[in-house]
Amino acid sequence: MITISMVVAAAENNAIGKNNDLLWKLPNDLKFLKNITWGMPVLMGRITYDSLKGYTMPGRKILVLSRQPNLTLPHATVFAAFNDAVAWCEQHGYKELLVLGGGNVYETYLPLTHNIYLTRVHASFPDADAHFPPIPTNEFSLVKATKHDADAKHAYAYTFEHWQRNIA
Ligand SMILES: NC(=O)c1ccc[n+]([C@@H]2O[C@H](COP(=O)([O-])OP(=O)(O)OC[C@H]3O[C@@H](n4cnc5c(N)ncnc54)[C@H](OP(=O)(O)O)[C@@H]3O)[C@@H](O)[C@H]2O)c1
Repeated sequence: MITISMVVAAAENNAIGKNNDLLWKLPNDLKFLKNITWGMPVLMGRITYDSLKGYTMPGRKILVLSRQPNLTLPHATVFAAFNDAVAWCEQHGYKELLVLGGGNVYETYLPLTHNIYLTRVHASFPDADAHFPPIPTNEFSLVKATKHDADAKHAYAYTFEHWQRNIA
């Protein structure tokens, strides 16, 4: 069975985006995202795909969820259902699928997720319009956390957190 892992950067109030864009620029987080997704299939909702504005994510295989019939998108494979994307990964020999958002997709598929790679941004954005769901701490354990202070390139302090689903 394939491992489902979410990768997300979320503020203290779980904000992840506004007007289909990110709320911060954190170069180290983008590096982290690149490292963890390199060579892997990455699944995202169609709205998050649009937010890439044509960026092709070299070295990654982009999978997009959409309910629009017969939709085709440049540099991506479109699926009408999550299970179809999982089946595609299994057919292509992948052991892990990385789910990259956005809010709608995170919320729907958190119950199927084994790992959450959360960059917790130590700030709050009350006017955000996209959010990560609260992590059910009775279902997940924090297995690693590495804090970084704000600096000249990072306006906010942030912590790389790895949450793992508890084995039943
Ligand atoms: N901070 C972060 O780590 C992070 C990461 C990713 C995204 N974001 C932010 O999140 C925001 C976008 O999130 P969002 O919630 O608006 O949209 P989203 O989750 O990216 O995409 C939603 C779309 O995905 C498709 N979809 C969702 N569930 C589906 C299903 N079960 N089957 C088939 N298709 C499905 C539908 O596309 P159709 O309408 O085409 O049918 C739906 O409209 C942006 O602000 C973005 O910047 C932040």
